[in-house]
Amino acid sequence: MSRRIVVTSALPYANGDIHLGHLVEYLQTDFWVRFQKMRGNECVYICADDTHGTPVMIRAKGEGISPEELIARSHAAHLKDFTDFEVAFDNYYTTNSPENRELSERIFLAAEKAGCITAKTSPQLYCEHCRMFLPDRYVKGICPKCGAEGQYGDSCDHCGQTYAADELGSPKCTTCGAAPVVKDSEHLYFELEPQHAYLEKWLPGHTTEDVSNKLLEWFAEPLRGWCISRDAPYFGFEIPGHPGKFFYVWVDAPIGYIASLSDWCKRNGKKLGDYWPGADGSEGREDDQSTEIYHFIGKDIIRFHCLFWPGMLHSAGLRGPDKVFVHGFLTVNGEKMSKSKGTFVNARTYLDHLPAQALRYYYACKLTGTTDDMDLNLQDFVSRVNADMVGKVTNLASRGAQMLNKNLEGRLGRIDEEGAKLMAFARERAEAIAKAYEDRHFSLVPVEVCKIADAANAYFDEKAPWKLVKTDAEATRTVLTNILNLFRLMAIYLKPVLPAYAAKAAALFGEKEWTWESLSTSVEDSKIGAYEYLATRIDAKQVDAMTSAAAVKPAETGEVSHESRASKNKAKAERSSAINSGCQGEDAGGQAALKAEISFADFEKIDLRVGKVVSCETVPKSSKLLKFELDCGSLGKRTIFSGIRGAYPDPAALVGREVVFVANLAPRKMSVGVSEGMILYAGEPGKCGGVVSPLDEAGAGTAVT
Ligand code: 2FM
Ligand code: ZN
Repeated sequence: MSRRIVVTSALPYANGDIHLGHLVEYLQTDFWVRFQKMRGNECVYICADDTHGTPVMIRAKGEGISPEELIARSHAAHLKDFTDFEVAFDNYYTTNSPENRELSERIFLAAEKAGCITAKTSPQLYCEHCRMFLPDRYVKGICPKCGAEGQYGDSCDHCGQTYAADELGSPKCTTCGAAPVVKDSEHLYFELEPQHAYLEKWLPGHTTEDVSNKLLEWFAEPLRGWCISRDAPYFGFEIPGHPGKFFYVWVDAPIGYIASLSDWCKRNGKKLGDYWPGADGSEGREDDQSTEIYHFIGKDIIRFHCLFWPGMLHSAGLRGPDKVFVHGFLTVNGEKMSKSKGTFVNARTYLDHLPAQALRYYYACKLTGTTDDMDLNLQDFVSRVNADMVGKVTNLASRGAQMLNKNLEGRLGRIDEEGAKLMAFARERAEAIAKAYEDRHFSLVPVEVCKIADAANAYFDEKAPWKLVKTDAEATRTVLTNILNLFRLMAIYLKPVLPAYAAKAAALFGEKEWTWESLSTSVEDSKIGAYEYLATRIDAKQVDAMTSAAAVKPAETGEVSHESRASKNKAKAERSSAINSGCQGEDAGGQAALKAEISFADFEKIDLRVGKVVSCETVPKSSKLLKFELDCGSLGKRTIFSGIRGAYPDPAALVGREVVFVANLAPRKMSVGVSEGMILYAGEPGKCGGVVSPLDEAGAGTAVT
């Protein structure tokens, strides 16, 4: 009986590009879903953009557009990247949807009714400079447990401890570097402790042992409540019955899985309750197992998917996922992805230089279904694709089909006894390959396929059809029929990994859509089509061109970066200090090298003056620049462009401030206008800084030599 399966990949944030780290997840989910579909199961692959939260709001503001415009743009770009990588979602929706609002409200109200929501006034970190309460990922400081520096406001990457942001030592606003103050605000909490027993029982069966054991360590003590509200301004859904409070993005993000599914159901004439029991508002369906639900996620978001999410669903009487499949991070050449080394590669940059299927094949070779990190070794990537996918497998089709078309009217004959033995050997691999797919141990698939390819190549070389054709056409036809049928089985096995390749291969044999059943048939006594290229070798030069295109010089990363999901824990690179360059983006180089020493005479050439900011605004189409009008006293008014926008989400806040600027710098013509000087901006290494003002906070004069 065929299974009904709902599968999700984590929803990518709308404020960032898709990169090779993300693809570790989307590709493996896609392999799995395609395999299920080939097996005849009904499998619905659901995803969406994760649109809410402060980063989207800040970025949209910085770009001078509405959050809705930003998320529409991202949605189109993300979907194009995924489509070009052959990731075939059944639905790619958005969390900013009416369905998601309705479901979020409903689940929250049910949890509230069940007594799982409490209100507490709690101290929150507030940045007076940015004039906002700081979300967890906007504050960094010292972990209260292990003392590691540079930890975010929710959990420590070093020791794994979770805590409230105000427990961090020496907290700093990651946007502007200022030390936040503590202010009281009332917030709503989702209480996990009432679900202690339920979750303790739920965990072991619903994720892998290592993940569940790690989480179960926390069950020795009462489970802490989870703060689910955020203060305005916040781009998201207002919480029903709590004006001015918004759902924290992590509340409506997983609910977005169901919302996207609901949208798919509507558009396909299906009932939501048949795919996610109870989600349509019906009651008492928590134990309904008529459908299987699986989440694929990275190991950085385990807590959300294995504690809060099942807890939330349970409190609302909805069933949770059957399993949460957790994978590790991507490293490139054995190291974390790095912008300066060109190994932090966006999906689009990759596609500009290399074929999608090469990466799909390589990732399949490396994925083992565990939480271990996965390395993309660029040299190994080139050699595996060329030696195995092209050299061993594809060459059999290209040589065999072209020889048959050229010399034997493209007509297949019959598989002989020798061929039948090889076909049996190939078919014997079916169970192991199916198990590898089912268990997400994808690396075993190319291993098994290469066993067949090795046997087929040995047979091909032994028979030497390129010689045989000169003396015995029919014997050659038999050899090529055997070879092409063996290739066909390999292409069927690889179809979940290489779908476009498999579609072209099927067309060569005059077939439409291969299913797992297609393994039991052979193609004989028929004409094949024209050979269309299935795969070409890749060149190390293409890889070099890609990494050069991806490489970002430290000075060019002039914006506050909010690292994307799969790489953020890896990308704890230092932000270097700079004068007048704004906050530095992440860069593995870390250290800001000092420029060459200058003499006192050089320094004396600089004329530093004080100007008062008359206006300060963003510059259309520039993500980095701010345009200042300074009142420079006896020097009159000056216009200065400064690349520090990343540090000042609210540029108007600078109006009225006095700033130090270089007054005798030659005017510089820029694409946006002429800049008449340079505003001083400085910060400590590893932190974002601020403009240099002549007065300290207490109002006393600061000496400026
Ligand atoms: O970590 C992330 O990238 C989140 N946007 C994942 C959300 S997954 C789900 F819960 F929506
Ligand atoms: Zn700030």
